Amino acid sequence: MFQAALRPQALKCSVARTLQASEEARVTAAAKLFPGIKRLSERVLVQGLGSRVWDADGNELIDFASGIGVTSTGHCHPKVVEAVREQAGLASHLQMSVTHHDRALQLIERLEPYALGLDRFFFATSGAEAVEGALRLARQATGRAGVVAFRGGYHGRTAGTLAITTSGIGYRGGNAGPLPYGAFFAPYPGLGGDKAYCREQLDLLVKQQVAPSELAAVILEPVLGEGGFVPAPHSFLKHLREWCDAHGALLIADEVQSGAGRTGAFYACEAAGVQPDILTTAKGLASGYPLSAVISKAEIADKQPPGCMGGTYGGNAVACAAAIATLDVFEEEGVLDNVRKQGARATSTLNTLKAECPAVVDVRGPGLMLGVEFDKSLTGFAGEVSRECEANGLLALTAGVHEACRLIPPLIVNDEDLDEGLAIFADAVKTIADRHGVAGSGDPKPHTTGRPAVLRGLTTGSSFDGA
Ligand SMILES: Cc1ncc(COP(=O)(O)O)c(C=O)c1O
Repeated sequence: MFQAALRPQALKCSVARTLQASEEARVTAAAKLFPGIKRLSERVLVQGLGSRVWDADGNELIDFASGIGVTSTGHCHPKVVEAVREQAGLASHLQMSVTHHDRALQLIERLEPYALGLDRFFFATSGAEAVEGALRLARQATGRAGVVAFRGGYHGRTAGTLAITTSGIGYRGGNAGPLPYGAFFAPYPGLGGDKAYCREQLDLLVKQQVAPSELAAVILEPVLGEGGFVPAPHSFLKHLREWCDAHGALLIADEVQSGAGRTGAFYACEAAGVQPDILTTAKGLASGYPLSAVISKAEIADKQPPGCMGGTYGGNAVACAAAIATLDVFEEEGVLDNVRKQGARATSTLNTLKAECPAVVDVRGPGLMLGVEFDKSLTGFAGEVSRECEANGLLALTAGVHEACRLIPPLIVNDEDLDEGLAIFADAVKTIADRHGVAGSGDPKPHTTGRPAVLRGLTTGSSFDGA
C-alpha cells in the first residue's frame, strides 16, 4: 500500500500555503455560502494524503469521512494523480453526445467485469443524476410509472430523487415540493421491522397503494447509507429479486454509497448473489473526481430512444481517467482484500468499545461501511460524538435519525491510521457517554494526535446533514 511508504507528517502543506486565502478573506467568503448547506465543522481544509487531511493552520486530522465515502484510494494516490495529470494535458473536455471518447470506452471495458453481468453503461456526474437516469430507464422500459422505495432511504436532492428519499425530514421538508408523483414506501428490513414483516408490507403495498401493472421498479440501497448504515439481509435481497420478477417490476440497486468496493465486494449485491436489473454507482468510483454511472442489462437499456439520455459533463474524460486509475489501484494493490481485513479489524475494536460502553447498542458493517448506533434515549449523542472527534483530530460523520455514526475511511486505510482513528472515536464516545451520565463508560484516555483548531472568527459546526 502506498501509504505505508509515505510519512504523512512529511507533507506539511508547503505548496498549499502559497495558494491559501487570508483568514479574513476566508471568513468573509464562508459567510456568503447558502445557509442551506449544513456541515460538521467550519474548519478549512487545504490538503490531503492517503487517510489524512490538513487544515489551513497545519493541523492534521484522520479522515474517516472520505468526502462522504468518495476518496476510495485515499487522497492523492500517486497513480490517480498521474492519470489525471496526463488526461488533463490531452484534452480539456470531450463531450459524449458529440463524439465517443477513448477514456469512456476504456472505462466500460474495465468496469464490465465488476458489473454483475450487466452490460450497458451511461455516465453522469453525480449520484442523484445516476438515480434519475435509472428511474427514467425503468419507466421507459416497462411503460409504467410507479416506484417502490424504502423508508429511511437516501437517493439524492433533485426533485425525482427527493421523491423517493425519506432518510430525514430536512431533505423533503422546507418547501422542497411538490415532488413528482409515483413513489410508494416500504419498511427497510432491520430499520422498519423484521424480514417477515417487510415481506408482508411489500405484498400489502401492491394491494393497497399501487397495482403491479403500474409498478416500474423497486429501488433499494443494499446497505442503507445516509439513513443509518444498515445492511439488508441477503435473504431479503434474494426475496426482493423474486418479488420483482413475480410482479414484472425492475430491481434497481442504488450502490452510489455501497458500491466501488466500500463493503468488501465491488458491489454489495454481489455478496448477496443478486443481480439487479439496473445499478447506480458513483462516489468512490473515480477516487473523488465527479463520475457516476447507470449500468443495466441490454434488453432493458436498448428500449431507450436515442437522445433521451445525456448531460454536458457526464463521462468527463479526466474523471474517466481517474476511474481507470482507481481500478488499477484496486487490482494492483489488493484494495478489496484491504477493505475486508480492515473492516474486520475495525469491527472487532468497535465491538470491544460496545462491550465497555453501554451507550453503544450496535456495531455493523460490512467492510469499511461501518455504522455504530447509540442508545436512542441519548438524544443528540451521535452528533456530539462526531463533533468531539472533529475537535480531537478525526473526521467522522453521523447517519440518519437513529443516533448513529458512520465510519467510512479510505479503502486503502492502513493499520496505523485505522487504529489511531478508532482510538479517537472510542475516546469521544466515552467522553460523551460520561457527559450523558451513562454508567460504565470507562475513562477516556488522552491521545496524542489530532490538535483542535477552531478557526478564529468562525463558529463551530452543527451536526452533519449530508448524503
Ligand atoms: C445511496 C445514495 N444514492 C444517491 C446519492 C446521491 O449522490 P450525490 O450526492 O452524488 O448526488 C447518495 C449520496 O450520498 C447516496 O448515498
